Amino acid sequence: MANTVGIRGYDFVEFFVGSGKMTAYWHMRAMGFEAKAYMGPETGCRDRNSYLLTKNNLKFVITTSCDPGTHEITSFLERHGDGVKRWGFEVDDVTKAFQFAREHGAIPVHRPYKIEDENGYVEKAAIRIYDDAEIVFVNYDNYKGLFQPGFKEPVQKMEISSQDTGLNNIDHIVGNVREDEMNFWESYFNKALDFETIIHFGPGDISTKYSALLSKVVRSKDDVIKNPINEPYEGVRKSQIEEYIEQFHGTGVQHIAIATPDIIKSIRAMRANGVEFLSVPKTYYDALREKNKESGLIEENIDDLEELGILCDVERGGTGYLLQLFTKPISDRPTFFYEIIQRKHGAIGFGQGNFQALFESIERDQEKRGNL
Ligand code: FE2
Repeated sequence: MANTVGIRGYDFVEFFVGSGKMTAYWHMRAMGFEAKAYMGPETGCRDRNSYLLTKNNLKFVITTSCDPGTHEITSFLERHGDGVKRWGFEVDDVTKAFQFAREHGAIPVHRPYKIEDENGYVEKAAIRIYDDAEIVFVNYDNYKGLFQPGFKEPVQKMEISSQDTGLNNIDHIVGNVREDEMNFWESYFNKALDFETIIHFGPGDISTKYSALLSKVVRSKDDVIKNPINEPYEGVRKSQIEEYIEQFHGTGVQHIAIATPDIIKSIRAMRANGVEFLSVPKTYYDALREKNKESGLIEENIDDLEELGILCDVERGGTGYLLQLFTKPISDRPTFFYEIIQRKHGAIGFGQGNFQALFESIERDQEKRGNL
């Protein structure tokens, strides 16, 4: 079905971080990104340093403040620590997308505006999402520069050797919200962006011995965009969503799932580059081998999956399955992390069959932090 807001796909993700250069370095070294463009004092921007990193279809902007008066950055960092401030949807028409969103309940942050330089102009507008984040509508049809006006060639080369991770594009972006807020944001997405709810995990669907959460997945009707939303549900101990809300001091992006055409290659490279992942017990792979004896669907060598700790979820009633793995939180607070995902034969889920093993793994880490 058509997507009435004219969303073409995910565009950039902008992170606000304490040290831009160090976080950019980590993404290059560990995740295999390249420095594509830069904005900062050397390019005439006095209040921030932004590093545009790219890898295949991924565009990540790592931004830090170099002036205490940069309130949007300093107030974000003071409260949340490093995290996702905004992400872009490339749209056919920024004004139309913004107007549609406004008429359907979106909270405006920036009305449509143009920024220009000698390479043309870029149109943008933004609406609010979660406590302190934004969705940006952006259009580059009239722009030929590196990224957006203000960005120039990187000042420092930062040629960093790392193994090719093959990471390709954003699959989904997940938000964590407080108890009783999930339905609000579900309907916000569905009204403002004409999305629809495709999956609903209710009480009892996702729980361990200690903790539980509720989750809904909303998506654009053409399936280009998928945005799961989680909220904590009462359990014996503190759920990972509550830990996030406490440590992030608010609601926001929990993880970005990055798709790869070859997850074995990606995880092998990321591990060699020093990325840390969640781990599951060996019994997980014994069970996977048993299950695969019946279905025979998994094309990968399960020994390879076990060696690299990759999880596999065969979807009920189909031939699709997904391979996935989650990094540990990438910064100091136990907040934002990445998921690496490969969908095989039309798999549409989010790894429901892995939730139990994963959440037990997260709880082991929570316990070490004294947050369970
Ligand atoms: Fe995910």
